[in-house]
Amino acid sequence: MEIASLIDLSRVGGIILKSVTLNPREGNPFPRIWETSCGVLNSVGLENPGVDFLVDNILPRLEGCGCAVFASIAGESEEEYARLAEKLNSLEAILSGIEINVSCPNVKKGGIEFGAYLETVASLVKGVKNYTSIPLFTKLSSAVSDIAKVAVAAVESGSVGLSLINTVPALGIDHTRRKSRLGGVYGGLSGPAIKPVALKCVWECFRATGVPIIGSGGVMNARDAVEFMIAGARAVSVGTALLRDARTAYEIVDELPRVLRESGALSASEIVGTLKT
Ligand SMILES: Cc1cc2nc3c(=O)[nH]c(=O)nc-3n(C[C@H](O)[C@H](O)[C@H](O)COP(=O)(O)O)c2cc1C
Repeated sequence: MEIASLIDLSRVGGIILKSVTLNPREGNPFPRIWETSCGVLNSVGLENPGVDFLVDNILPRLEGCGCAVFASIAGESEEEYARLAEKLNSLEAILSGIEINVSCPNVKKGGIEFGAYLETVASLVKGVKNYTSIPLFTKLSSAVSDIAKVAVAAVESGSVGLSLINTVPALGIDHTRRKSRLGGVYGGLSGPAIKPVALKCVWECFRATGVPIIGSGGVMNARDAVEFMIAGARAVSVGTALLRDARTAYEIVDELPRVLRESGALSASEIVGTLKT
């Protein structure tokens, strides 16, 4: 919700809220953020106030905020994901979609381990779909052997779209102490370093499924956003860039028409998935 105090939400297409869990989570030990030469390593560990707080205190304040609102859910079991969906279902009037986060690298239970196996993703998405009519977007990790296969499993099980990619599992080391830069030891890498990885994932999943994709991973400006669209993203999300300056969101929106023209397009929709190979 801090973002609502930093930018005018009616100037962006939408927001994806931080992943929420069934019970409140304190997150991982500090330090949780380490800035590398080309991106950010984080190990926040899904700190959040829990789904009941989100439903009672945060989502109602976002009603009529002027942009699409997506919740993001993360469970430690299939049952938890289903219960989260059930609790959010009554907020259909506020939520444009629910992102199923099966790709968080910073938690001991759940997270990325759910996203690694086709069968688990399929059964989890089916389970969630039984409890909500809000459109589902499955958020995948690049750290799998064949992301397109996981994407197909998610879509065939009821995901209307995909969100790609989450942070890439990584490690930073302080050589003077021979210790990890992060309290949680491993972290997730985001920002410019992962953009080429993300573009490849978006292109592969676009070709395999054709469903709407929210692309993320190193979008720092409008040119990055257009590159994601050419790879097949219908929308892009911006994380790391906003840590530095939340107004980057405005710059991307304002610059988009000019950058689209550079690519020979008048609208975003006509450029989606048009990569020439
Ligand atoms: C500090 C931080 C916290 C994040 N928390 C979440 C989260 O709660 N749920 C989630 O699905 N992704 C989370 N992400 C991943 C981002 O949503 C995004 O997928 C990733 O950072 C790549 O985009 P970017 O390079 O624009 O940051 C987080 C990223 C950062 C840097």
